[in-house]
Amino acid sequence: MALVTKEIFKLWLLVSIVNVSSQSCPEPCTRLFSKLVCDGSKVNLTTFPQIENRPWIKSLLVVHTNLPSLQRGELVLPAVDNLRKVALFSNGIKTLGKSIFRNISNITSLALSNNSLSAVPTIAIKPLKKLVFLTLTRNRIQTIESNAFLQNQNLEKLFLDDNRISDIRVGSFNGLDRLIYLHLSNNNIARFPFEGSVQDFSVLEGLYVTGNLIEDIFTNNQNFSACVTLAMQSNSLSHLKNFSLNAFPQISTLSVLDNLIEKLDEFLFGSVYHPLENLIISNNKLSELPIKLLKNLPKLRKLFLAQNKITMIPGKAFLNNIYLQTLDLSFNLIQVSHPSALDGLKSLKFFFVQHNNLSTIPADYFSLSYDIHFRLDGNHWVCDCDLCAVQKWYNKTKYYFGNPVCSVPPRFRGTPIIEVPFKKLCKDTEVTISEHTGDFGFSTTDATSTRKLLFYEDIAILAMLLVFVTGGTLICLSCLCNIFGK
Ligand SMILES: *[C@@H]1O[C@H](CO)[C@@H](O)[C@H](O)[C@H]1NC(C)=O
Ligand SMILES: *[C@@H]1O[C@H](CO)[C@@H](O)[C@H](O)[C@H]1NC(C)=O
Ligand SMILES: *[C@@H]1O[C@H](CO)[C@@H](O)[C@H](O)[C@H]1NC(C)=O
Ligand SMILES: *[C@@H]1O[C@H](CO)[C@@H](O)[C@H](O)[C@H]1NC(C)=O
Ligand SMILES: *[C@@H]1O[C@H](CO)[C@@H](O)[C@H](O)[C@H]1NC(C)=O
Ligand SMILES: *[C@@H]1O[C@H](CO)[C@@H](O)[C@H](O)[C@H]1NC(C)=O
Ligand SMILES: *[C@@H]1O[C@H](CO)[C@@H](O)[C@H](O)[C@H]1NC(C)=O
Ligand SMILES: *[C@@H]1O[C@H](CO)[C@@H](O)[C@H](O)[C@H]1NC(C)=O
Repeated sequence: MALVTKEIFKLWLLVSIVNVSSQSCPEPCTRLFSKLVCDGSKVNLTTFPQIENRPWIKSLLVVHTNLPSLQRGELVLPAVDNLRKVALFSNGIKTLGKSIFRNISNITSLALSNNSLSAVPTIAIKPLKKLVFLTLTRNRIQTIESNAFLQNQNLEKLFLDDNRISDIRVGSFNGLDRLIYLHLSNNNIARFPFEGSVQDFSVLEGLYVTGNLIEDIFTNNQNFSACVTLAMQSNSLSHLKNFSLNAFPQISTLSVLDNLIEKLDEFLFGSVYHPLENLIISNNKLSELPIKLLKNLPKLRKLFLAQNKITMIPGKAFLNNIYLQTLDLSFNLIQVSHPSALDGLKSLKFFFVQHNNLSTIPADYFSLSYDIHFRLDGNHWVCDCDLCAVQKWYNKTKYYFGNPVCSVPPRFRGTPIIEVPFKKLCKDTEVTISEHTGDFGFSTTDATSTRKLLFYEDIAILAMLLVFVTGGTLICLSCLCNIFGK
């Protein structure tokens, strides 16, 4: 019984939907609840759809059309009381008449992407005082004039990507005190935007200027105090200078992937500790780790340095980065990784050094009390007893990304490190493994015994020092005694 009622209800629902659609949806568009969709790629639209007297329309999409009246800016959209969102993308619009939005000035969202606009339609959007979202992505805009959005003071999200913008005039963004996201990626911008401007960007959270021609960052007089994301990948930055990101005190992600960076200064974010969490510098020209800068970033969680020209990881390089979880140094030229390189990295989870020029790796890395995912493939591993630690660690954790193989000695060339019979070789037959003693530098090949040896050496040195110092003190005491004539 209940089932039948349910079926009848469904049928009634269907009939009423069909009724509503056929009653008030202008042909050849389709209605989806309060949204009217007129997609020229699906139906042939010869005139702009009738929208007046249809108060149910809250969202209007007229897209992929080829309507000359729309393209030439001759239309004035009629008043529709509840209309809030308008999308007019991919219509070949060249210009917008000054009155096009006059009667729908309460809209909050406007999409004009993928058209042929050659300038920001400042006059057309002037009545849109409640606009929160505006996209002009994929047009032909070259210049952003001063005060281009002056009347749109409620804008929170502004998209200007994929244009030809090369000129951002002083005061272009005047009035945008509430802007949260500003997207300017894939343009021809050569100077950091806002240079010389006095705009208050105090609520801006994300600034995206990827894919431009920016060589340097100047932010004098600016305050991006709320900005957490700065995306600057694929520009022409070569040197990130002291204090140049001083205006971004809260930034948590900085991406400068794919630039020409050779140097990152110690005080890039100013002279105090900075709360940066994610730093993406992959695909640049760094030949050294920016150790001094890293010291000033104690909250760092992810550090991407792949595809640079780094040759070594010095000792204690990350001493201040106790929250660092991901360290990506793959595709560099690293030959040496110091035994104390990972000191201080209490939270490390991923250590990527694949495709470098490492021949050995300190056994200390594998004696940590917690497990790390290592990637070691694509190096020139010398499979002597030092690498036994790698195998032990693999047996224990089974964490293994890639499958690193030996290059030397010849009889193990191509053999995965995890398959080399270290246990047998390193205990019983030192002769077998020392066929390449020259590469190892010493014939005592057991890594632990070598370390023990070093340890005893250290103790000996310490003892000598102690004797020296005590001796010196005694001598000195005696000379003091002499001087004071006791
Ligand atoms: C739209 O009309 C043109 C001619 O006016 C025709 O060539 C085309 O096939 C039509 N497209 C659709 C989807 O009906
Ligand atoms: C727009 O509104 C004005 C009055 O504010 C009115 O005269 C005009 O006819 C309206 N235009 C359209 C297309 O509805
Ligand atoms: C952009 O618009 C053009 C025609 O105006 C169309 O051919 C193209 O598919 C559109 N691109 C996207 C991504 O919608
Ligand atoms: C905009 O909304 C206000 C009230 O929220 C209303 O008085 C006004 O007539 C609306 N304007 C248009 C053009 O719909
Ligand atoms: C930037 O703005 C924030 C909050 O509005 C304020 O606390 C800070 O002092 C300002 N910094 C500078 C350098 O003006
Ligand atoms: C950056 O500032 C530090 C500290 O004042 C200084 O030692 C260093 O030389 C500066 N770097 C450059 C490139 O000016
Ligand atoms: C790799 O290291 C070896 C020495 O171990 C050196 O001869 C070679 O030039 C290095 N390769 C590169 C690409 O730096
Ligand atoms: C790792 O496990 C394999 C297979 O169980 C074993 O042959 C090998 O000796 C182990 N290696 C070490 C270093 O314990």
